[in-house]
Amino acid sequence: MNIKSIRSQFPILEQKIHGKPLVYFDNGATTQKPLSVIQRINDYYARENANIHRGVHTLSQEATTAYENARTMIQNYLGAKENHEILFTKGTTDGINLVAFSFGELLKAEDEIIISAMEHHSNIVPWQMLCERKGCKLRIIPMDEKGDLVLDTYDSLLSNKTKLVAVTHISNALGTVNDVEHIIKKAHAVGAKVLIDGAQSIQHIQVNVQELDCDFYAFSGHKLFGPTGIGVLYGKEEILNLMPPYQGGGDMIKEVTLEKTTYNSLPHKFEAGTPNIAGGIGLGTAFEFLNSLDMKEVVKHEQELLEYATSELEKIEGIKFYGQAKVKTSVISFLIEGLHPYDVGTLLDKMGIAVRTGHHCTQPIMNQFCIPGTIRASFAFYNTKGEIDVFIKALNRIIPMLKN
Ligand code: ALA
Repeated sequence: MNIKSIRSQFPILEQKIHGKPLVYFDNGATTQKPLSVIQRINDYYARENANIHRGVHTLSQEATTAYENARTMIQNYLGAKENHEILFTKGTTDGINLVAFSFGELLKAEDEIIISAMEHHSNIVPWQMLCERKGCKLRIIPMDEKGDLVLDTYDSLLSNKTKLVAVTHISNALGTVNDVEHIIKKAHAVGAKVLIDGAQSIQHIQVNVQELDCDFYAFSGHKLFGPTGIGVLYGKEEILNLMPPYQGGGDMIKEVTLEKTTYNSLPHKFEAGTPNIAGGIGLGTAFEFLNSLDMKEVVKHEQELLEYATSELEKIEGIKFYGQAKVKTSVISFLIEGLHPYDVGTLLDKMGIAVRTGHHCTQPIMNQFCIPGTIRASFAFYNTKGEIDVFIKALNRIIPMLKN
């Protein structure tokens, strides 16, 4: 991979923080944006801004075409069968809530939903809310001390009562890559549908929704080099057609009278109101950018960063890693004995290094490990071994400062 040329497309990476070159290791929280995405959003607002699906005038038609082309771009990248199986949302949380609300309307009190112990809060709370609403039961796939799901227990949780399994593809806190193929196959064998939380995956691995055979796949644009406030929910057409709308309003209707409303076809049935048009178009450009990369090279480079950083961190006295799963992406969660993660994060920032500290919206994981939080370094393909050296050097300076 030509990292230098890739980095030159991300203007923020030239930035100095507290007078030091930025080392951005908080890619799990959000990724930086290439110039093509920034320019595309700028161009849209500067020259193309109009509402979509509504106007006969030229600008409206051009904006509609650009927005719908972005949908097709995403459909092709994900290998979805139909363009209308790609629903634009605000992000992963919004997509999961859509399914919890709408698919949830089809459930009855005796039904069961399975999630795992390593989920982000956004893949826990909507299901708890659904269970409260409908009286359904929430069952949990446990996680072992390495950060792998205990799939034997998963197999025993499944029954003909299971209606939905909702699990993360890759853990945001630990980096674990879950065996979603196994999870999907087993769920389908009992007639359950499967939602995959893909917030941390498309930026790290190639995802093909038809090959996976998942029923829903939710992700956010901002974690894969696109804008914030836009995301995608992929859903299989036949299931989306059975589900009632999530929100009512403009664009999602076929006909409205004061007595009754009939609904629009997919994807509009689930896209009420004026959407994030610039965001959708910008997300299409982020996918064009992803298309320009060789994903095999991305995986190789990020694995090298993971291995190099892990082996360098191992040399630090008192370090403890959280998440040592068999298959991992480039996320390292750790603590240093005697130091509070917040203090380490604050001093790293003073040296220009951005990491996330805290519970990473995964309090059940932290509770299982009996810790309040971790320091998390999460790498993207534009990160380098040189930046890891800067990080290790900074940690070696910080540790004695905080211990004395
Ligand atoms: N879910 C994001 C993270 O892991 C915000 O940091």
